[in-house]
Order: sequence, then C-alpha cells, then structure tokens
Amino acid sequence: MTAVTARVPAKVNLQLSVGPRRSDGYHDLVTVFHALALFDEVTVSPADTDSVVVTGEGADRVPLDADNLAARAVAALVEAVGPGVRDSPGVAIEIRKRIPVAAGLAGGSADAAAALVACNELWGAGLSPQELAEVAGQVGSDVGFALFGGTAIGLGRGDQVTPVLATGTYHWVLAFAAEVLSTPAVYAACDRLREAQATSPDASGAAAMAGVPGSVGTSAVGAAGPPQLNTRLMAALRSGDPAELGPLLSNDLQPAAISLLPRLRQALAAGQEHGALGAIVSGSGPTCAYLARDGKHARDLAVALTGTGVCRSVVTVTGPAPGATVISVPADGRPVSRP
Ligand code: C5P
Repeated sequence: MTAVTARVPAKVNLQLSVGPRRSDGYHDLVTVFHALALFDEVTVSPADTDSVVVTGEGADRVPLDADNLAARAVAALVEAVGPGVRDSPGVAIEIRKRIPVAAGLAGGSADAAAALVACNELWGAGLSPQELAEVAGQVGSDVGFALFGGTAIGLGRGDQVTPVLATGTYHWVLAFAAEVLSTPAVYAACDRLREAQATSPDASGAAAMAGVPGSVGTSAVGAAGPPQLNTRLMAALRSGDPAELGPLLSNDLQPAAISLLPRLRQALAAGQEHGALGAIVSGSGPTCAYLARDGKHARDLAVALTGTGVCRSVVTVTGPAPGATVISVPADGRPVSRP
C-alpha cells in the first residue's frame, strides 16, 4: 500500500460549560460537540524520513515539525502499538486544510484524528475505535471527538466522548475572523474574568457586558462550580427542531473570547439582527457560528453577514457530520469510501 487518505470534520460546541482550573492546568468540561460538514483531508504514505506538508486554508500557520498535531498523533500511535508497526523508516503526512487554523473549530485536532485512522489503515494496525480514542486522548482534548463525529457529550478534559441521540440535520453559517485566538490564552482569560468577578462586583458588570444581551443563554463568565449538562438542550436535539435548539446554545468561553477580541460582540449581534436562531462563538473562537432555520435561511444569512463586513469570510455548513473516515486507499484497489 502506498498511501491512505482520511477525511475529518470541524466541530462546534453546542454547550461548552467550563469548570474551575484544575491543578494540571486543564479545566473539567461538560460539552456537547457537534461535527460540521467542513472537512480537512490527511494523506499518509510510507517514506524514508518523517515529513509534514500542509496546503490550503491557513497553511502557513501550521507547524511542520514534531509539534504538528498530526505528527504527534502518528508518534503516539507508534508508541501505543510498538515501533514494529510501521513498515518504513518514516511517514509522509500531507494535510489539505479547509478548516481554518486557531479558529475554535478543532482543525488541528481533526488532522490528528485523520492521521490516526489513516495510519491504522496504512499499517493494518487493527486498533478498534475505542483503542484509537485512547491514543487520541493523549494527543489533545478534542481529538477523540473528531474520530467519532456526529453529536456527542464530552466530559473530563473533553476527551471522554459519548454519542448523543440527535435527530435531523442543522443548517449553520460560520463566520471566519481575520484574527486567530490561542486556546490556552482564551482559557486563561476565562479564569481571569472569573477571578475578577469573584473579587469585585464592578468586574462582574464589566464581564456581563462582554456577553450578547439576551442571546446565547450563557451567563456572564460561567459558573465557578461543577458544570452540568443542559437537559433542555438534550431534549431540543431529540426533537430536531432548530428553533428549540437556537436559544439554548451556550459557551462559557464566549465572554473570554470577546474580552480578547471585542469585535466578536458585533459579529454575534449582526447574526441575530438577520434572524439567526442562535449565535455563538465556536469553542475558544474567534469563529462565530449561527444556527439557521433551513438551507435557504442559512444562505440568506450568509449573504447578509458578508454584507455587514463583520468577518473575513462566511460559509454555510450542515451538521452533524461523520467523524474521521478513510476515503481512499489507492494502492490495492479496496473500496474508496468506508465508514
Ligand atoms: O488538549 P489540548 O492540547 O487541545 O488543549 C489545549 C489547551 O487548552 C490546554 O493546554 C489548556 O490550556 C486548554 N484546555 C483547558 N481545559 C480543557 C481543554 C483545553 O484548559 N478541558
């Protein structure tokens, strides 16, 4: 076999509830992941030395050394299975990006998940989805979800993933920002806002200003206690009605992202002015995600948002989407698309 290609989706968090900072620097989460039909592709092939090549959206921002998340995933897989698993001294990793980098859409984690399923196939390593998920958890908090896709609850760091019973297809508009936000910086800003809120009543007022009034069902800076799954959100997902889901979208990282990039407040408000059922910062941002009634509404909303100039570019996407999937195994003529 000479090359294996896997396709992998972006994600938005329908709920992102963030607990207090743990002693290891991470935060316990209760989150609801939702995979979006915006895909990166990763091809792995045997080579004399390890290499990473990245093309497409934001490629110049992706590290090409051992810090690359796809390269780290390959190293973690070799570590888990043993060095004998690879049939060549190195692996060439080629990443074709459509998911923007450092945008709150878990694009790097997605590439890691794609590299895992592709190398599992290339080497015939035979790891089960559950075994791959264990390796994924060592690479990053969102990598496990990118393996499974669909709609799923994430607990712990976000790496303990359980699928959710959800009905129907949702239509989204994503507004990409010109800027990037670093995930650790947004979590740190969230901690700072919470500390300020706890120590000064004035700060809580300022933090509340960072939210979008009456819009996204998220409190000023989120609860300091253990996060809870929103059972109304779960019921809305079972109903499949986007009008029920829209007002229930919530993201504790949103005030923190807005504090670092205040312009996001206008971007969210613009979506609401143009009839979005819900408007939310995706993950740690700065991408904004808007829920539409249907495909036509999503296209209308995308045109309206483009006209407001609040973002770099917009796309319409549907969710849920399948997780990391091998899409081509050219060398030995096996099927070109498999779940
Ligand atoms: O796990 P991952 O490498 O994707 O996380 C990136 C950063 O995001 C972490 O270093 C940490 O600062 C922050 N993070 C967190 N709590 C989580 C997940 C991520 O604080 N549950």
